[in-house]
Amino acid sequence: MEYVIEMNHITKIFGKFKALDDVTFKVKKGEVHALLGENGAGKSTLMSVLFGLYQAEKGEIIINGKAEQISNPNDANNLNIGMVHQHFKLVHNFTVLESIILGRETVKAGILRKDDARKKVMDLSNKYKLKIDPDAYISDITVGMQQRVEILKMLYCDNDILIFDEPTAVLTPQEIEELMKVMKELVKEGKSIIFISHKLNEIKEVADRCTVLRKGRHIGTVDVSTTSKEQMSEMMVGRKVSFNIEKIDAKVGEAVLEVRNLTIKARNSKKNMVNDVTFDVNRGEIVCIAGIDGNGQSELVYGITGLIPINEGKVFLNGRDVTRESIRRKCIYGMAHIPEDRHKHGLILDFDLQQNAVMQTYYEPRFQKFGLIKFNSVREYARKLIKQYDIRSPKDEDSVVRNMSGGNQQKLIIARELDRDPEIVLAVQPTRGLDVGATEYIHKQLMAQRNEGKAVLLISLELDEVMNVSDRILVIYEGEIVGELNPKEITVSELGLYMAGSKRGEGYGKKA
Ligand SMILES: Nc1ncnc2c1ncn2[C@@H]1O[C@H](COP(=O)(O)OP(=O)(O)OP(=O)(O)O)[C@@H](O)[C@H]1O
Ligand SMILES: [Mg+2]
Repeated sequence: MEYVIEMNHITKIFGKFKALDDVTFKVKKGEVHALLGENGAGKSTLMSVLFGLYQAEKGEIIINGKAEQISNPNDANNLNIGMVHQHFKLVHNFTVLESIILGRETVKAGILRKDDARKKVMDLSNKYKLKIDPDAYISDITVGMQQRVEILKMLYCDNDILIFDEPTAVLTPQEIEELMKVMKELVKEGKSIIFISHKLNEIKEVADRCTVLRKGRHIGTVDVSTTSKEQMSEMMVGRKVSFNIEKIDAKVGEAVLEVRNLTIKARNSKKNMVNDVTFDVNRGEIVCIAGIDGNGQSELVYGITGLIPINEGKVFLNGRDVTRESIRRKCIYGMAHIPEDRHKHGLILDFDLQQNAVMQTYYEPRFQKFGLIKFNSVREYARKLIKQYDIRSPKDEDSVVRNMSGGNQQKLIIARELDRDPEIVLAVQPTRGLDVGATEYIHKQLMAQRNEGKAVLLISLELDEVMNVSDRILVIYEGEIVGELNPKEITVSELGLYMAGSKRGEGYGKKA
């Protein structure tokens, strides 16, 4: 039998919206099968149908040659199908170990046998080099470790068919390398993997075949080794995509953002998350803060934008001290923020698209009169953003944001932030989870801000993005800036040395 999974003629409709239209998708035993498509193409929906989270209106699912009815995730688990979701579904006040064994607890004479479970989990952890701390609480661990927990949970259940929905979007380059190795190991053991990613390099590295979806339709299935990245992205978006960013010379002006001796202490330890950081971002330049995840870059941005208090230091915006200003004031003075965690800090998921679009501006005269919201103006404005930024969703401005695809949620935030014509944009991982077309678009937008003489501070974990987009690179390591680099003069591997802390720029001595 050639296929472990055959999904034939699947159609899935939400209200009036056809998310999947007659899609056929087949996975061979022992292969890594990539699923590629633009944001909102239907990848997660197709996997949710396979995993029993959604019921298809039409079509059949055949697992190992037998037609099956998959009505819920338990049915899927019984067929040895496991899934790592795009947005993790872990319970925050559980420990790592509890999370992994949840739903599969071994009970002997009515007593939970945690010891057996712990041994099995640690054996798996060692075997696949998925490092975890079994007793840490989910709320305290990094997204990278959460990802490993999700994978171990899937392996703990002895699944044979593994679905990874965009696992690499939240991982650091080092963690991605590790995950690629794990996937190769798993297929060697005869497991079959479905791998969703927007990163064509990853698909090239690990996948055997690739199925492309566009707007809910099956465009084709290709052999990865004989298909170029350019061909795959053209199938995906229906046009040619350029991987190079056009860059005119920067015309650098005066400082827009000045950060002086910023220090932020950690909540539970004596360590400083951000230690005496000083830098400027000037008109007409994109400054990038590069670093391995967890080196203080998140806290630095939280401190500047006002999401967490800072202990020492000052922040100036166009010469004005905004260190202790409210977030609304900072917005008014021209600070825009594309946050790292779009669900926590970027959107209200149960509000609709238009409400989210005016989150910082609803009180302005164009949207409000005598304390009443001008609903028509809000609607019109949202429509303008949808059109201009190509935000795709099932019900346009009336879509509840929770039901929008991850990438389109991100586009909405970017539209809202850039359309306020800010003086400085703090963009944290702005292209995380975006397809190649949308990534190209965001990079162009950031470049346009810069060319108009605005300032951009970009925080990115992706070295390609750092090297291609920025005019100046500041490397952060353990809460300190350890070097300032010119992307034209350094190589990726050199940058890596700074990020790993094994090299420091001149004048960037270790401070006590
Ligand atoms: N529960 C739902 N109700 C209504 N519409 C939905 C629901 N779930 C998904 N959709 C819509 O179906 C379409 C496909 O969404 P899906 O999440 O499958 O996209 P995707 O290919 O995974 O995109 P991304 O790369 O951004 O994650 C989107 O337009 C989305 O808004
Ligand atoms: Mg998705």
